[in-house]
Amino acid sequence: MRILSDVEPTDEQLKIIGDIKPGYRIIRGAAGSGKTTTALRCLRELVTVRLKRRQRHGHEAPVRVLVLTFNRTLKGYISELARNCVPNDDALDLTISTFARWARTIVGDIDIAGRDQESAMLRPLLQSFATAGKHDFFADEVAYILGRFAPENRAEYLTVRRQGRGLSPRVDRPLREQLLRDVLPAYEQSKIKRGLIDWNDLAVLAADTQPGVSYDVVIVDETQDFSANQVRAVTRHLQDSHNTTFIIDAMQRIYPRYFTWREVDITARPEIIHTLRENYRNTESIAAFAIPLVDGLPAEDDGTVPDFTACSRSGATPLVVEGRYSHQLQVMLDRLTQITDFWTESIAILQPRGGGWFSEARKALQSRGIAFCELTRENEWPAGPEAVALCTIHSAKGLEFDHVLLPGLSQEVTPHGPEDGDADLDRLRRMLAMAIGRARKSVMIGYKPGEESSLVGLLNPSTYELVKVQTP
Ligand SMILES: Nc1ncnc2c1ncn2[C@@H]1O[C@H](COP(=O)(O)OP(=O)(O)OP(=O)(O)O)[C@@H](O)[C@H]1O
Ligand SMILES: [Mg+2]
Repeated sequence: MRILSDVEPTDEQLKIIGDIKPGYRIIRGAAGSGKTTTALRCLRELVTVRLKRRQRHGHEAPVRVLVLTFNRTLKGYISELARNCVPNDDALDLTISTFARWARTIVGDIDIAGRDQESAMLRPLLQSFATAGKHDFFADEVAYILGRFAPENRAEYLTVRRQGRGLSPRVDRPLREQLLRDVLPAYEQSKIKRGLIDWNDLAVLAADTQPGVSYDVVIVDETQDFSANQVRAVTRHLQDSHNTTFIIDAMQRIYPRYFTWREVDITARPEIIHTLRENYRNTESIAAFAIPLVDGLPAEDDGTVPDFTACSRSGATPLVVEGRYSHQLQVMLDRLTQITDFWTESIAILQPRGGGWFSEARKALQSRGIAFCELTRENEWPAGPEAVALCTIHSAKGLEFDHVLLPGLSQEVTPHGPEDGDADLDRLRRMLAMAIGRARKSVMIGYKPGEESSLVGLLNPSTYELVKVQTP
């Protein structure tokens, strides 16, 4: 599967790459602005400088580098990119990992509750919240509290601004007190009874474990999906004179997370914040298609709305296909055959959910003799020649493809509450914009008439071509 090619950094990127002063650094910018590309060039620069310094001073210790991603697919992708970018040197100790895997190497072998177990423990505790049909929302709220506050500071939840959680449903003080007083302690007990910890405990334990290894250079990609406790764990494992880069775009956040830099003990002085403004990935038409999805969402310092004026390439008008799922695929694959070079280009079929949702896509590809690979949660980037990848939207975070197909965009797979500012709706809007933002050349969306996701209604009809396939 094709991956990013080497590019010539622009002035705005060179400024970041040339800055090798130790300390923290934050790279912001919209999807496709070259954040990951720039951070990897920084990595090359920093590693080269540090290896030379090590040799000059005759130091014994290797140069220790940590590159962290949130999910496995991005880890596979970044590993592939990083391999070409750093020198092959025995004095370089390079770890590229998901946060979870890295934290486990620090904390040791310990049973972690799977999502199902976590949900089974929380469900009975959230009964009274569930009466309003809000069980999942409050389960996310618990994850938000656990992730944002250090265990000893959870009371801060009563008074802070609940940013990152939408405006609806409202969680006023009595509800917050109820969560802190009744739900969290019972949940802790439940974990103890079962001899389990959860993913947040893993982050807290990793933060509290004495560093065995401290890193010289760290890069954290897609930091908006990390919890505060995960960031705290990273910052506790740094050399005094470290270079740590956080890449962030809050507009692409798809998990119930939020933190301020101050909350993770980082002083975000203007000189450590770099904002990338160009969009090198998308065409103007693709960016214009995505904009209404995120336009008007709460602005955050670390979030950047896509801007079609920041794109320098024009391209095909996005396609929206209305018809049965099999017909959507048929129209999309026909179109793709006309516009794609299957030898040199990459294509992703993305779905909001995994599992059975892909089986029809697999059949359609097989019947046309199109080879494909699966990317969801894969640790290694596929080395084969397949041009087409199947992937969940979540796992496509941070990746890019020439063509992106999003069939089956139904309300069933994008459920949310009825009000503007609903937390799930805001998250889904960011998620679909992020999915569209994976595309370099063309993007296609499909839905069954009458069952379409309400997200489709947010799109601006003047930015896409609509094809309706009549069911015979
Ligand atoms: N200086 C440049 N010249 C030309 N293309 C570039 C340049 N910098 C980055 N690109 C290209 O822009 C695209 C997006 O880069 P990258 O994946 O680094 O963006 P990103 O900001 O990390 O996006 P995301 O938020 O989606 O992760 C890639 O195709 C990359 O090769
Ligand atoms: Mg990136």
